[in-house]
Amino acid sequence: MKESNLKSMSDLASLCKRRGFIFQSSEIYGGLGSCWDMGPLGVELKNNIKNLWWKAMTYRDDVVGVDAAILMHPTVWKASGHIDNFSDPLVDCKQCKGRFRADNIDLNAACPTCGTKGSFTEPREFNLMFKTQMGAVESESSTVFLRPETAQGIFVNFLNVQSTMRKKVPFGIAQIGKAFRNEITPGNFIFRMREFEQMEMQYFIKPGTQADFMEKWKEIRMQWHKENGLRPERLRWHEHEKLAHYADAAFDIEYEFPHGWGEMEGIHSRTDFDLKQHQEFSGKNLQYTEQDGNTVEKYIPFVIETSVGCDRALLAVLCDAYRLENEGDKENERVVMRFNPKVAPIKVAVLPLMKKPDLEDVATKLFKDIQKEYMAEYDLSGSIGKRYRRQDEIGTPFCITVDFDTLNDQAVTIRDRDSMVQERIPLANVQAYLKERLKI
Ligand code: GAP
Repeated sequence: MKESNLKSMSDLASLCKRRGFIFQSSEIYGGLGSCWDMGPLGVELKNNIKNLWWKAMTYRDDVVGVDAAILMHPTVWKASGHIDNFSDPLVDCKQCKGRFRADNIDLNAACPTCGTKGSFTEPREFNLMFKTQMGAVESESSTVFLRPETAQGIFVNFLNVQSTMRKKVPFGIAQIGKAFRNEITPGNFIFRMREFEQMEMQYFIKPGTQADFMEKWKEIRMQWHKENGLRPERLRWHEHEKLAHYADAAFDIEYEFPHGWGEMEGIHSRTDFDLKQHQEFSGKNLQYTEQDGNTVEKYIPFVIETSVGCDRALLAVLCDAYRLENEGDKENERVVMRFNPKVAPIKVAVLPLMKKPDLEDVATKLFKDIQKEYMAEYDLSGSIGKRYRRQDEIGTPFCITVDFDTLNDQAVTIRDRDSMVQERIPLANVQAYLKERLKI
């Protein structure tokens, strides 16, 4: 069978819209740049990814979770360096007013939009944080920021969590939540968004142990992506040569998207920069006290951070799963999303062969039973072939057909999405069959 991978992001974007994964934000008003809404299948897929991350990262002795507020005290961003440093260099074209990242274009060349030469302004730094006002009366209210990363909600709660949960270094704090960046050059579907979600974990360690913990977390995090079904040949490491102001080492897990290799997750050795800054700006002692027998040692822990964009991980899962089979062969062409069953939004579809009460009675009963365990769909409309195609496009691992023979033999046909092999299984064994294969 001839099979090809995803060739362009626009093919994926149209499938995502057509099948209810992802819609443009405020689409009926013409959309809002680089803001996207998850549809019913998108939210299911995303929740599966979030749950897998949460389980992998917090169902362990040494990591606990938090869910901090998006709005934080404005001094947090002064301390973290975001007010002074979280910016991109920007130029405007004086002719067409187009705006570009200075590091993305050749400033001596013509404007990519209008073709005018020598029309760029001098580069200016453009802060990426969104501002809003807090308080009822505007004149008395103060400017607050929508957080550009979730990490700071963890740093400011370091002592709260450490003391209430009686944690000893090394330990980690994990969080999933929204982050906002006023990106200048967004695009590539959901690759670069202005509102997105991060899944971050800060692992607090004794200074000097960062190289070992970096290796450990690099291995754990790469393995997680592979276990979600991403093809290993589409994953690679990128080591940063130019380090952020807070880091002493930084690696990215990159995925090969249709537009090229792109960052999906950062694993950063953030030193004691953030806690030290918060100690200085808040005036609160953020030292950790380590007691070993009679020896007491006080220090500000170092941090290894793992930070993955939830929407980027989701985009990689979508790109990786996409296959076009028998391209150009009208009869046999099909798009199939080969999701790992763990992440598939719908696990099982129940399809009565025809709209007949006795078939429907059996099918609805089976559907209700399956729904107790798995996200499932019941589909009665269109030919069975069309219904299979639809389920292939949304990546449902198993389709169960109830036909006229079912009424006599109390058995159903289960079709496997990938092999398209159909097996006859007694109704009484369906749950066991699914349990064995879905292993969720
Ligand atoms: N706390 C560290 C931090 O925020 P980052 O490399 O700026 O580091 C981490 O972001 C991850 O967040 C990235 O690897 C990416 O997956 C995701 N991310 C960052 N900006 C994004 C955007 N504009 N749209 C979607 N995801 C984004």
